[in-house]
Amino acid sequence: MPAGVVVAGSINMDLVATAQAIPRPGETLAGKTFARFPGGKGANQAVAAAKLGAPTTLLGCLGRDSFAAELRAHLAENDVRVQVAEVDAPTGTAMIVVDEVGENSIVVIPGANARLHAGMLAEVPIHRGDVLVAQLEVPVDTVAAFFERGRAAGAVTMLNAAPAVPDAELLLPLADILVVNEIELAIFSGMAASSREQQVEAALACRRFREQVVVVTRGREGSIAIDADQVIDHPGHAVTAVDTTGAGDCFVGALAARLCAGDPLAAGLAYANSAASICVQRPGAGPSMPTAAEIQPDLASYETGEPT
Ligand code: RIB
Repeated sequence: MPAGVVVAGSINMDLVATAQAIPRPGETLAGKTFARFPGGKGANQAVAAAKLGAPTTLLGCLGRDSFAAELRAHLAENDVRVQVAEVDAPTGTAMIVVDEVGENSIVVIPGANARLHAGMLAEVPIHRGDVLVAQLEVPVDTVAAFFERGRAAGAVTMLNAAPAVPDAELLLPLADILVVNEIELAIFSGMAASSREQQVEAALACRRFREQVVVVTRGREGSIAIDADQVIDHPGHAVTAVDTTGAGDCFVGALAARLCAGDPLAAGLAYANSAASICVQRPGAGPSMPTAAEIQPDLASYETGEPT
């Protein structure tokens, strides 16, 4: 059986307003457009991996409402196998504002996602070589049990520690690969993480064991990864962003898909970098994930160095 990507995570309906700017506290702004898109970090990552050809399973929870039916249809259209429980809670939603340069601010209402528990994952087959992916929009103890099962089966565990919830600390030692953005990096390390040099220091501070890979997604600047004694730098692609929502999820799903196909880390990161640069050029999260034919990994551009 070929290795696959198994994602445990959130499934949301994203309610998205675009406006010239993200409103400040107390401010009311006239918006430009409103739309709803399939989203949720878990679902987005699963769709990204599946569209890039990885056999992909998503484990999650939905409510018994019309959003749930739409989200199931979206996952099926994108070849994501689902093992999704229907629970007595509203399907997860996210209220998103996107500004004129594509930056966003998001409030997530977990709803059904908060009901995902370890027992629901116990029967899912996990094999050596699979890549297990989780984020923090579902309960932390569920993710811990998922990763412990993965470790026992010889799978690779990848934690996208987003959003940065306080009790995520217990998961860090269970992740073979930790993926964070600059905000999450600063929170988990307790250090300033604005410049590249600060990010390298902060990523080293987040690393819980020497073999753990720590990846920092840096938006338009690309990504850095700490791998043993090396820092792998991938510069960003020069594109015009219309909506950055889901770009981090695209990166994670693409990286998982390529690692499960056998790519070395640096090549997987180049691919993920390219995938995310396509995602930001389209509105919405779930529908903006690219196909393999669209991706042009810049395999020549990355640099490696020591984390000094
Ligand atoms: O990472 C983007 C996602 O975060 C959105 O799709 C939204 O649902 C929130 O989960």
